[in-house]
Amino acid sequence: MRLEGKVAIVTGGAGGIGKAIVQAYVDEGAKVLLVDVNEEAGRDFAANLGDAAHFLAADLSVEANAAIIVNTAVEHFGKLDVLVNNAHASRQAPFVETSMADFDLSFGTGFWPVFWLMREAHPHLLQTKGSVINFASGAGLRGNVTQAAYAAAKEAVRGLSRVAANEWAADGINVNLISPLALTEGVANFIAAHPEQEKTLTKGTPMKRLGDPRNDIAPVAVFLASADAQYMTGQTLMTDGGSVMLR
Ligand SMILES: NC(=O)c1ccc[n+]([C@@H]2O[C@H](COP(=O)([O-])OP(=O)(O)OC[C@H]3O[C@@H](n4cnc5c(N)ncnc54)[C@H](O)[C@@H]3O)[C@@H](O)[C@H]2O)c1
Repeated sequence: MRLEGKVAIVTGGAGGIGKAIVQAYVDEGAKVLLVDVNEEAGRDFAANLGDAAHFLAADLSVEANAAIIVNTAVEHFGKLDVLVNNAHASRQAPFVETSMADFDLSFGTGFWPVFWLMREAHPHLLQTKGSVINFASGAGLRGNVTQAAYAAAKEAVRGLSRVAANEWAADGINVNLISPLALTEGVANFIAAHPEQEKTLTKGTPMKRLGDPRNDIAPVAVFLASADAQYMTGQTLMTDGGSVMLR
């Protein structure tokens, strides 16, 4: 059990990659506070995991919720070792049609909550010499068409993560990112509705398949939360079948 005794927060833990990370963390011995706006899915999932998981229904885009989330984890499980900022909602639009509302949605769910939660979590991570795991995207690294609001927020998260990695290294806190490519429920529904799009999704991927959230993405989140990653910080781990190769 690689995460025995650790306490983690996973945002967006009721679905997709976040849900797979919650399952993997519990399987590896961690206690997890999962946070999501999807109350029904979050409650059902946490109930299946027993005492190892606790669900908090909260909208990350509300700044005041960051303190509530961190305090809930610490009150319920006694401390905080790992913060996984996974949730991110966005809408696609051609560049010139991208609206302030699109930016507000993307930054409001995928950038500001990352900053707020890292700020709230810092005193607790200081005590445990903990870890932050944030999420990047090939859409940001490549600059995918129609993804201005999403790509900008994702690259902003990478910049923020590098600053924290530099500032907090002396505190013993590491900050890394995962840039995934995964067949989540949302992507599976999209492929079911548009089967011709599947090839487009995997075309630029050397491994020619989309990752499995539990088997391909979550193990990297386990690694980054574990002592095995203690000498790594400020890094983006491309967990995308080779789609983007950083140099
Ligand atoms: N799936 C991929 O292939 C892929 C590719 C690149 C990057 N990513 C990134 O990986 C992470 C997870 O992606 P995913 O595909 O599993 O996402 P998803 O959309 O399937 O799941 C996100 C979860 O976040 C929750 N959520 C959304 N807005 C919220 C809010 N305001 N407050 C609380 N919870 C909220 C949703 O209810 C959902 O359970 C995201 O940061 C995403 O940008 C995913």
